[in-house]
Amino acid sequence: CGIVGYVGPKSTLEVLLGGLRRLEYRGYDSAGVSVISGTGLETRKKAGKLDNLINEITNHPLPDAHIGIGHTRWATHGAPTDGNAHPHIGGSAAKLSLIHNGIIENFYELKAELVAAGTKFASETDSEVAAHLVAAEFEKTGDLPTAFTNVVKRLHGAFTLLAIHEDQPDVVLAARRNSPLVIGLGDGENFLGSDVAAFVEHTKRAISVGQDEIVILRASEIEIRTFDGAPVTPVEFEVSWDASAASKGGWSSFMAKEIADQPQAVADTLMGRLASDGSVRLSEIDGLTAEDIKNIDRIIMVACGTASYACDVAKYAIEKFARIPVQVELSHEFRYRDPIITANTLIVAVSQSGETMDTLMATRFAKEQGAKVLAICNTQGATLARESDATIYTHAGPEVAVASTKALVAQITAGYLLALFLAAGRNATEQKVLRSLGQELLKMPARVTQVLERLDDVRALGKEMANAKSVLFLGRNVGFPVAMEGALKLKELAYIHAEGFAAGELKHGPIALIEEGQPVIVIVPSPRDSDSLHPKVISNIQEIRARGAKVIAVAEDGDTDVANFAEHVIYVPSCENIFSSILTVIPLQVFALELSSAKGLDVDQPRNLAKSVTVE
Ligand code: G6P
Repeated sequence: CGIVGYVGPKSTLEVLLGGLRRLEYRGYDSAGVSVISGTGLETRKKAGKLDNLINEITNHPLPDAHIGIGHTRWATHGAPTDGNAHPHIGGSAAKLSLIHNGIIENFYELKAELVAAGTKFASETDSEVAAHLVAAEFEKTGDLPTAFTNVVKRLHGAFTLLAIHEDQPDVVLAARRNSPLVIGLGDGENFLGSDVAAFVEHTKRAISVGQDEIVILRASEIEIRTFDGAPVTPVEFEVSWDASAASKGGWSSFMAKEIADQPQAVADTLMGRLASDGSVRLSEIDGLTAEDIKNIDRIIMVACGTASYACDVAKYAIEKFARIPVQVELSHEFRYRDPIITANTLIVAVSQSGETMDTLMATRFAKEQGAKVLAICNTQGATLARESDATIYTHAGPEVAVASTKALVAQITAGYLLALFLAAGRNATEQKVLRSLGQELLKMPARVTQVLERLDDVRALGKEMANAKSVLFLGRNVGFPVAMEGALKLKELAYIHAEGFAAGELKHGPIALIEEGQPVIVIVPSPRDSDSLHPKVISNIQEIRARGAKVIAVAEDGDTDVANFAEHVIYVPSCENIFSSILTVIPLQVFALELSSAKGLDVDQPRNLAKSVTVE
């Protein structure tokens, strides 16, 4: 869910709706706002996307106000209805409004207690419990921060809570446990948000709120305390994102814009880390001593969704160059299966948002077992970065479309840098070879641009295939995770059945799926590689063609051979095969985008998904 809070002289409604628009990627099952004006507390909320709320406000306008909170929901407890939308109103006098991101795990017993005391509930959510509890506690204590703190201490689970009360119309209360919360510092105004996108248009000065902390936010004053009341000294940081980076800027969708941003995302992620001679410097991980690096005996990479495919790519590069065994794990599986972790295990947690609860939990668990944690993360001030021993930031800029594109190529880029860095630190590959690989990596942004310049065929293909029922993707080596990502993109965006397979595995089962006309997209490795898999993939293509498959190949320039075996060939510039994933993934992103738009679907906000899933 996305959360925004404001107190200050501006039109609160504009600040809240602007913030929600930029946070909508965090969930779009419903949206709502509460403001306090001279006439008291007023709330509007509506199921569905933010536009439904805006219509509701047009029909039932809100008064001018200088304090308010807003929420955009990804449903967990209770269906996405108007009633279950946030804010929730607490107390019989209905003076308190509260919004929540996360899950209150002990809501059932708390609700039973309230019901026994005669409280009437208006929703099926766990969140409403907190609204009633705070309202009741305020009636008892007469002090809002105290009431809020007393209640927060009783809650279990994950939550960011924001509350306002009609009787104290100058203060927004906020609490954070496990879910994200950032403060935006203005001049005579202050903001709260799930992430900096909520307020980046108004201020670049931010403070990230720590675990189990409470914020008392006024227009010209901010106080942060722990749940136990100890004062916290805020640490300010500067938001490097430009507000325009979080807007569509003339593109048909955020996803289209973010695909086009990819040369920059790769270049920015390399910047300052790769010298012109090809040597890698990762000053962010200075916390790991040369000794630490030598002692690493295993790397476990944890992530979910698209980010996990960046890990799969990194595995090939790290094992090849740094000669360290790498295990890639889905965070939620890893966390709950009693994995083997020692002090010499390096955990690399990869997450665009840095707030994916499954990945945070995996990371915390590994730390408790004594492992060092390195994060690869795209969001400043994110929980994952705060909780890791070191962070390599991917500099993809804000990614708004739910389906990840530029964040993925930036994660892959960071993975390659890490591989070269570890290889150099351990002398696992000749320095000369590593530097020449580094120089190759420097050429990748220009090659990404070239890929983007020649996608007309892919666009046409996407449109042509709008009625496809199923598409299969095959790849080997780094092409394998690319195939998986191509399939995921198609599922996410176009709701088409799609599967990615290791090309060599096909004959062991999935080949049974091939029938006349089945579209199969094959990522073909470079024929120039010394240990080339090219002939093997060509054989795989022949095996499926013999059974009726319609083959679309993604191959490197100059690979004329493949044209003899495929209906279509999409050519990308040639490069070191290990780095090719950055290029071959792009046509698959564009293919999914085109197919989704041809079906008339919402490319940026596909059904049932949220960009950042902050519950387990
Ligand atoms: C969600 C999104 C995916 C994303 C995954 C991991 O499931 O819908 O697009 O890949 O989370 O997100 P992260 O922020 O951790 O990279």
